[in-house]
Amino acid sequence: MTRAVWDRLLAEARRVHDANAALHAFCPFPNDITPQPLSPHHVPAADLFTRETGLAGSPLAGFHDALLAATPAAHWRETYKDTNIGQDFMDRFGCYCLIGDQGPFHSDHMRAWMVYMPPHLHYTWHHHLAEEAYLVIAGSARFFRHRSPEVTLSAGDTLQHQSNEPHAMETGDSPVLCYVIWRNGFDLIPVLSTAEDLA
Ligand SMILES: [Fe+2]
Repeated sequence: MTRAVWDRLLAEARRVHDANAALHAFCPFPNDITPQPLSPHHVPAADLFTRETGLAGSPLAGFHDALLAATPAAHWRETYKDTNIGQDFMDRFGCYCLIGDQGPFHSDHMRAWMVYMPPHLHYTWHHHLAEEAYLVIAGSARFFRHRSPEVTLSAGDTLQHQSNEPHAMETGDSPVLCYVIWRNGFDLIPVLSTAEDLA
């Protein structure tokens, strides 16, 4: 039962990824994917995502629906649990893995997650060794990159972050749902950027 949910989500991710030239150029969807066991882990943001009404009407609604269907089976991440990021962020920021650690699939070539942010949430400056690409599945958000102009992205838009490039994001009146992929440098998790990193 659960495997069917994950297989449906993987098929949706592959379909959307293959159809997007920017994502395909960044990293072709892997052909070495294998299933792996995972333990579900719940966080409050999972409930916010389930109840969210502001993501309707996206052209990528099939991907959104598959992510919703997998919500009870997912291991929702708490990447910043031991930092000073604050309780509001911990309570409202949602992320689970599709390909990679604590996700239902493994690949040697790519990592993939979903990221959900409800309205009026700020995801502060952070960076990581891996190179990253974002695709907005539904909703919209402002994206910030160190030394680059901010951009507002909505459904279908993509953005890349270089290795160790500090970046941040923020929602306004709309929530946002994103598909996030990494290539290279998988072993180091994101860290919050310091004033020195942002100098
Ligand atoms: Fe990132």
